[in-house]
Amino acid sequence: MESISNYIGNQNLTQKVYYNKVSFYYLVKFLRKISARSNQIPSSPHRILVSKVSELERSGKKVYNYTQGQPGLPPDEKLIKITFDHALKNSFNHYKYSTTQGLAELRDAISKDLKKYGGFDVEPNNIIITEGGVEGLNLSFFALSDPGDEVVILDPSYSVYWDLAKMYGLRVKTCVQKIDDEFQPDEECLKEKITRSTSFVLITSPDNPTSRILKESTMKLIADLVIDNDVWLLYDEAYKHLVYEGEHVWIQRYSRTMEKLVGINSFSKDIAIPGLRLGYTYAPKEVIGEMNKLKGLMSISSSTSAQWMAYFALTTGIKEEYLKKVVPIYKKRRDVAYEAFRKHLPEAKVWKPPAGLYLFPDLSYYMKKMDVKDDIQFAYKLAEEKQVAMLPGSIFGKSGANHLRVTFVIMPENELEQGIEILGKYLSEK
Ligand SMILES: Cc1ncc(COP(=O)(O)O)c(C=O)c1O
Repeated sequence: MESISNYIGNQNLTQKVYYNKVSFYYLVKFLRKISARSNQIPSSPHRILVSKVSELERSGKKVYNYTQGQPGLPPDEKLIKITFDHALKNSFNHYKYSTTQGLAELRDAISKDLKKYGGFDVEPNNIIITEGGVEGLNLSFFALSDPGDEVVILDPSYSVYWDLAKMYGLRVKTCVQKIDDEFQPDEECLKEKITRSTSFVLITSPDNPTSRILKESTMKLIADLVIDNDVWLLYDEAYKHLVYEGEHVWIQRYSRTMEKLVGINSFSKDIAIPGLRLGYTYAPKEVIGEMNKLKGLMSISSSTSAQWMAYFALTTGIKEEYLKKVVPIYKKRRDVAYEAFRKHLPEAKVWKPPAGLYLFPDLSYYMKKMDVKDDIQFAYKLAEEKQVAMLPGSIFGKSGANHLRVTFVIMPENELEQGIEILGKYLSEK
């Protein structure tokens, strides 16, 4: 067969230019590739399940969807009205870019809010407004680690942490959190893993997926370890206002912690605006300076309209009013979901968490009898065959295998129980 170059050599000039262009096009197309950096990040089973659910719903089927990590009630109506009123009266101001660091008015309000709830001081200048907690996490990973660095993440943990660690090329050391220990990490393990070689430790309380609140003694230990070893502490407080028993633990109150602390926060859960993508991060000045530089490149600034909404939530008492209304409803739903597991899946290990949005039952007993490779396959099968969607535990870390993450705030109590009953029947038939 004639090679391309021989073939081109036999043509006249116009044809040669044409064929050169064509072969260059195919060469580039051939060489063009997806980066290894992107390729190494697996497709999230969470996103796959979400699209499966929407497909099932579009086909007219009733789906019991426990996968969403978001509040089950809409934001406060008064808050929506105030925000729209502001937009109408100040449309230019309301919709223009804000500074990269965020509206000064909102950062001021956050500073006061942290003082009110946590009792500690954060200068508005040490706060950066982000597009949800996720942007705060990205900015923190980017600013505080280099590829190959060692970090400590608890297992199980919010699934995004593992993928971010991969994306930023980090080596992860872990301490497990077991249901038998009410998901508290082992203190000896923390002492062993947090060392001078650690770049940062990432903790979450209340937690996702376990919804546990870290014990005060463990928090004190972590605070000491990060100071003694000169390690950054990333504290993800996305669920800090969704507490049903006990209290959020403010690690910021322990001496010198603030020197090393990066507080990652979200407006998605407490004032229920996950779709507006808003959160904030506070940290020592030099860290905020770096984040400001990076955020300028990633998103310029967060939605100004969303920032005004958060500002009104914090300065009018609406946040408190709203939480007073929704927290008892979420608590009731937690109780119903917990009792439903005990009643319909008697062999599951289930722990009633004091906070958050999720139950994280261990279904090892049932999984062993199932003809599936792992909990991810099981979650797909359950959605397809029974239209009950729950997240597989192993996406939250190896020790989450054979668990399911069940959002308990997302539907009214009767429906909440029905889906769990269907799951119980399905498993007992096996
Ligand atoms: C622990 C934790 N941190 C951060 C986030 C990110 O939330 P957002 O980006 O909506 O603020 C989530 C979302 O579910 C979460 O569970």
